Amino acid sequence: MNRPTKWVVNHRARREGAKASLALFTPERVQSVRAFHRGFPRYGVTPLSSLPNLAGRLGVAGVYVKDESCRFGLQAFKVLGGSYAIGRYLAGRLGVDLSRLPFPVLAGPETRARLGVLTFTSATDGNHGRGVAWAARRLGHRAVIYMPKGSSRVRLENIREAGGEASITDLNYDDAVRLAAAHAAANGWVVVQDTAWEGYSDIPAWIMQGYATMAAEALEQLRAAGVAMPTHILIQAGVGSLAGAMVGFFAAAGGAARPLTAVVEPDRADCIYRSALAGEPRSVTGHMDTIMAGLACGEPNPLSWPILWDYADLFISCPDEVTALGMRVLGNPLGDDPRVVSGESGAVTTGILAACARGEGFAGLRSALGLDAGSRVLVFSTEGDTDPAAYRRIVWDGHYGLDCPGARDEGKY
Ligand SMILES: Cc1ncc(COP(=O)(O)O)c(C=O)c1O
Repeated sequence: MNRPTKWVVNHRARREGAKASLALFTPERVQSVRAFHRGFPRYGVTPLSSLPNLAGRLGVAGVYVKDESCRFGLQAFKVLGGSYAIGRYLAGRLGVDLSRLPFPVLAGPETRARLGVLTFTSATDGNHGRGVAWAARRLGHRAVIYMPKGSSRVRLENIREAGGEASITDLNYDDAVRLAAAHAAANGWVVVQDTAWEGYSDIPAWIMQGYATMAAEALEQLRAAGVAMPTHILIQAGVGSLAGAMVGFFAAAGGAARPLTAVVEPDRADCIYRSALAGEPRSVTGHMDTIMAGLACGEPNPLSWPILWDYADLFISCPDEVTALGMRVLGNPLGDDPRVVSGESGAVTTGILAACARGEGFAGLRSALGLDAGSRVLVFSTEGDTDPAAYRRIVWDGHYGLDCPGARDEGKY
């Protein structure tokens, strides 16, 4: 019998008053991030799949899935953050605005002659490190990547293939981050971490801005499909940088018409959910045992948390069976809905929608989300099958069946 899904409604999010700054996501800033990514070889807009049959089953007007399985050939959105942060860092070292450094210049011999070959380092479950390694190599630099205990061998090899020196440590994610920072301090390397701490915030802020390319693409694609603004966004969280970026982008872009946003985490690593219950940042420690490897982070990003606390409407904590359901639903679509190959960290938000469509114990959550016939829901499938054997165990062999579909409300603000 699997554990229940829990949620908490954040009524503060709709109250007037002073709120966290959205300055990272002004239209001008987002435009400059997009210009940087467009300059990269192999840049292409990833698909936004419309799933009308799933929407019909759910009783809503539309379900749209931004499919990141083909981002730069790396199977995840993460490279958007690491590449932009490295670009900004190099531009800072050169003393030139990034907009004046097209890719061939940034990657060219003159830049390397001025800066030498730099070493970028990071801790990662796989996707972030793969992106950092890929971007570092493309720009002519080196990357050293540390992975938490229990990380997948396939994901390790993916990082090596992208050009990084990678190893699996015996530490959890948060301790692996500290290890990367210690090695950087000892060796003069540059930390490109997707979370902030005291005295370290520029690079994580650039990483969050980098993710805005994905949001901006999705909004453009929705508009092309006649949807001015989604009514709902469900977004998954590890440290919450991605969630902060998506919630921040759509709050800035949508103003008073911004969508209802729900942040979804694995219940073994639900630091944002626990922070929402406590009203201030809270950590989860120890080994976070979840198949959602990309979301197995125990400490909220302090840059992202204020945005989530002020703007996110719901926080949801769920067991692995929910994402397994999402993976199967996306991989085996209804009618002529397009198929989306979505990995363990990519499918959890669709899993929540699919569970809501089944009714049963999820009726309360469905109503807390306010899903109705007018709803147009946007979710982000943030990775493809980054571990294909694990993907097949779930999608073919039916591991992690959702046998106890309950969800319960844990309180309100
Ligand atoms: C596929 C995938 N989705 C979502 C996330 C969550 O991002 P964040 O840690 O910024 O919350 C990650 C993080 O590594 C990831 O790899």
